[in-house]
Amino acid sequence: MYKEGSPTSCDAYDRVTDPVGEDEVGEIWIEGGVPLQGKIQIQGSKNAVLPMMAAAILHEGITCLVGCPQIEDVYAMEQILNSLGVKTAWVEHSLYLDCRNIEKTDISPGDARRMRSTVMLLGALLGRKGKISFSQPGGCVIGKRPIDLHLQTMQAMGAAVWEEEETIYAEMKGQLRAARVTFPFVSVGATENSIIAAVNANGITQLENCAIEPEISHLCRFLQAMDVEMKGIGTSSLWIQGGCSLRDVKYEVPPDRIVAGTYLLAAAATRGKVILENAPVEEMGAVLRIYEKMGGQWNGNGGKLMANAMKLSRPISYVKTECYPGFPTDMQSILMAVLLTVKGNSRIEETIFEDRFRVVSEFQKMGAQIEVKERQASIHGGVSLFPGRLCAQELRGSASLIVAALAVKGESVVSPSRFIERGYENLEKNFSNLGARIRVRE
Ligand code: EPZ
Repeated sequence: MYKEGSPTSCDAYDRVTDPVGEDEVGEIWIEGGVPLQGKIQIQGSKNAVLPMMAAAILHEGITCLVGCPQIEDVYAMEQILNSLGVKTAWVEHSLYLDCRNIEKTDISPGDARRMRSTVMLLGALLGRKGKISFSQPGGCVIGKRPIDLHLQTMQAMGAAVWEEEETIYAEMKGQLRAARVTFPFVSVGATENSIIAAVNANGITQLENCAIEPEISHLCRFLQAMDVEMKGIGTSSLWIQGGCSLRDVKYEVPPDRIVAGTYLLAAAATRGKVILENAPVEEMGAVLRIYEKMGGQWNGNGGKLMANAMKLSRPISYVKTECYPGFPTDMQSILMAVLLTVKGNSRIEETIFEDRFRVVSEFQKMGAQIEVKERQASIHGGVSLFPGRLCAQELRGSASLIVAALAVKGESVVSPSRFIERGYENLEKNFSNLGARIRVRE
């Protein structure tokens, strides 16, 4: 079954990833070496819809998110909202959120640890109910991921914030105070939380040095659709008029730029030719530039991304992950998987998360020649890799292992499967539609 020397056991991995420690069931079987060819539809964006689900709480009415991705992180957020009193219903890919009765403001430890985005409820529940408690989300495999910036901003808006036995409490007597906040460094989540908190604050909140990831602009446009008055959308300076009366809204979730980038680079790793319908090409500039530098060809029109990687052959001498519009950290390990297949030396620097090279040890089990020094990984690509049993430890690392396995002749298994299910809808169906031999097995 496996080539001599390929690993047969999956090393114990860092359970910090998911301290609730579900049973490690589920694996993804892949027989690699097939160039991907065909057409798939890109799902709704996980990182855009999670803050929208939290922000829906601000409005004592009904919100509908159309084209909502059916992924574990959305179900986890839905369950947390249900525990607070939100009634939810799915009609195909539309998620209805009835937020007329919010009965609770404490999030159970199990729920809070299940998904980091529970911290997004901080601004929403403070804005709606003036209080919240949740367990310290803790770090994950890619880094400590503190939430100090989130908490500091709520304090700047008048909330009392304290911690007791690993539970965080935040309370505000009356309305949050509009504030002028300058973030000491760029944080996507802290920017989103602050925007959400500002919606019900009394007066005008000004946020400086905001993150400008597309998900922030999508959140702002979602709030505008609910009748929130805002200025500066798409820039690092945001102006939010608090206290607007909100209305029911039916809002289209934008396509997922990281999922689209994942399928693009999976085609690159297998030298395939794919069409990604509904891909947000205008948000994928940095990834497409790297794809071109490797020799990939593409064109995008009318919401379709057509990509041909048959001639892809060039290494990337140096690329670093940066805040948007730079090369996204979420694509870092997935690009690494492609560079393993390209003859020559490449180098990647990870500047956002301190521990996002965890997947390197799994690539090395496949025979990859990668050297990590502090924040830089040097890849000697083009050496022949062998298939094997690969250990998934977090969401995008799992995707990168799948991409590597698709590129290598022979049978590999990536397990457990639950990490990939957090962010990728219909993974098996999509890759099968592109000609891959892949099975997700319980
Ligand atoms: C969001 O995480 C995304 N998650 C991440 O995607 C993405 O990698 C990240 O932004 C960067 O683009 C969601 O949108 C749900 P940050 P977030 O706050 O908000 C430090 C995926 O795979 N920091 O911009 O947590 C932090 O430790 C995920 O879909 C503080 O120190 O990222 C990191 O080093 C992974 N204190 C840096 O800032 C804080 O209070 C950037 O983090 C907040 C952040």
